[in-house]
Amino acid sequence: MSDQTLCMLGCGNLGTAILQSLLDAPPNSLCGITQFIACVKSEQSESRLKRLFSQHQNVRIMRNENLAALRDSHVTILGVDPSQVEATLEGNENEQSTGWGPPIENALMGKLLISIVAGWTRPAIETLINSETDLIDSRYPDAERAWVLRTLPNVAALVSQSMTAIEDHPSPLFPPQFKDIATAIFAQIGKPMFIPPALMPATTAVAGSTPAFWAIIVDSLVDAAVAVGVPRKVAQKQIYQSMRGSAEMLQSGIQPGELRDMGTSPEGCTIAGVMVLEEGGVRGVLGKALRESVTVARAMGKVGEKGREVHVNDTRKI
Ligand SMILES: NC(=O)c1ccc[n+]([C@@H]2O[C@H](COP(=O)([O-])OP(=O)(O)OC[C@H]3O[C@@H](n4cnc5c(N)ncnc54)[C@H](OP(=O)(O)O)[C@@H]3O)[C@@H](O)[C@H]2O)c1
Repeated sequence: MSDQTLCMLGCGNLGTAILQSLLDAPPNSLCGITQFIACVKSEQSESRLKRLFSQHQNVRIMRNENLAALRDSHVTILGVDPSQVEATLEGNENEQSTGWGPPIENALMGKLLISIVAGWTRPAIETLINSETDLIDSRYPDAERAWVLRTLPNVAALVSQSMTAIEDHPSPLFPPQFKDIATAIFAQIGKPMFIPPALMPATTAVAGSTPAFWAIIVDSLVDAAVAVGVPRKVAQKQIYQSMRGSAEMLQSGIQPGELRDMGTSPEGCTIAGVMVLEEGGVRGVLGKALRESVTVARAMGKVGEKGREVHVNDTRKI
């Protein structure tokens, strides 16, 4: 496969960051994707993207032309806000259908649609695209359905350090080359990881919410450093680097307990601080905060559904 086109259907904060990383990808690292289309809704965004990508001959900016963009593309990333998914995938009613389904369905037939939208499950998106989802496996030959892959990057995609969860597709007919394409795309913005569908709500919080948690922890440490006389900019540099070094040690295989033990000597200052953290119940508070995020992630997109999934360790029933 060569000269494939990727459409960013909704090119806002995250879509732009992903597109920029893909444009920097080494040659031949994107499974034949060389052309890009960025779709937006407003004139303001259109102008912003035209300025931003003016040097790139292989990027087309399209506004209010989603259907044409989808027809011209081999792979699409759905990057609109969760509240805009339905309107976006309903498509342009004025366009003529060329087959047995609605226009968007036809434009995506046999292609890969990667969703990065938080809270929207794969079946919910498939229901919007495919006109007769209950018949999807029996009626449509595998080449003739739109294949939806749900993913969840995190905000660190902005610096190509995203932890991106890619939900395993349950169908044995899922084309293996689509898995390769998704892996290649998300390897450009950080680390991709395939996970089973049942882990998606937990991952939404574990990988998606934790950057905000780190931000609060770091902010409180910087404030404390300022309180004892360290200039804020100096404190920020020291603490950010401390965080980065700790992350690299942990990623190298050192266990958290080992890391703590390496830095704590008898009667030392570090163990004194650790004692205060334990006294304040920091593990319990962080643990409950994460469980709360998971509880809400599990409920997202399921409001009104009967028999909603609740885990025994969720913090409450929503
Ligand atoms: N930001 C994150 O850290 C993060 C992390 C994980 C997942 N996500 C998910 O990523 C998605 C995008 O987030 P974001 O922060 O990038 O949002 P955003 O900045 O609001 O971007 C959304 C984009 O979609 C465009 N759009 C809206 N309706 C459209 C339509 N009908 N056709 C074409 N384009 C349309 C908007 O265009 P206009 O600007 O012209 O209105 C905008 O460029 C969300 O679903 C979010 O849940 C985000």
